Amino acid sequence: GPSSVTAAGVGKFVIIAHRGASGQAPEHTMAAYQLALDQGADYLELDIHMTKDKQLIAIHDDTVDRTTNGQGKVNSLTLSEIKQLDAGSRFNQNFPDKAKPYYRGQTILTLEEVIGKFGGSVNYYIELKKTQQYSEMADKLLRFLNAHQLIGTLGVHGQVIIESFHEDTLKYLRNKSSELILVQLTDNPWNIDLAKIASYADGVGPNYTKINQKFIETAHQHGLLVHCWTVNNETDMIKLINWNVDGIFTNYVDRARIIGTVF
Ligand code: G3P
Ligand code: CA
Repeated sequence: GPSSVTAAGVGKFVIIAHRGASGQAPEHTMAAYQLALDQGADYLELDIHMTKDKQLIAIHDDTVDRTTNGQGKVNSLTLSEIKQLDAGSRFNQNFPDKAKPYYRGQTILTLEEVIGKFGGSVNYYIELKKTQQYSEMADKLLRFLNAHQLIGTLGVHGQVIIESFHEDTLKYLRNKSSELILVQLTDNPWNIDLAKIASYADGVGPNYTKINQKFIETAHQHGLLVHCWTVNNETDMIKLINWNVDGIFTNYVDRARIIGTVF
């Protein structure tokens, strides 16, 4: 349950950098992760897919089309093909007011690269995407996190949180390790059974536009953390903090840091 979350702190409002500081830098790039940390993020969020050659990479979509100069499904491209893509120029084109020269040429990152860079000094919030497409993904992730001493007996409890929309994946992970911190994502918070979620997860991650204070209270009564996505404006941040939310995913860590400090 939540009382075992130590790295992030119990009763502390946590700010999860949604795809990095993705409101100000190209999502899931080193530029976005570094900016998020500079702004005081408690967790870096990484959405994970798998390449054709079974490498874990940080990307939201199951294609490279929206965020890079390339095309194709992630699972039909090899890592070396993916590493040739520019994951920053599209952002510069779409958001000229936020563009920076060094965003050009940012690359899609492997999980290995992100953790190789920031190591044990950072907390990671890892989403397993489209797990039906990638049968070995959960096991690969577990092996990787163990090898890097981020989970298991050598890990700091709470340093890694694993989130997914896929209930089966979370249950699978729970069976593999009772120590993992697991969060069930939902876009349909009134249609879920919080008692059932509490049987295999430590928290629930709802779309914040679909909940009210009662939802958070009820989740807390079931011993679940509530981490809402994706909260980008100050008014909503204040509202959720007043509702006793445990954390938010945001593209604007800087805003959340200010609000979280004041309220
Ligand atoms: O993981 C929380 C939130 O990020 C879920 O939505 O589509 O941004 O991954 P998405
Ligand atoms: Ca996500």
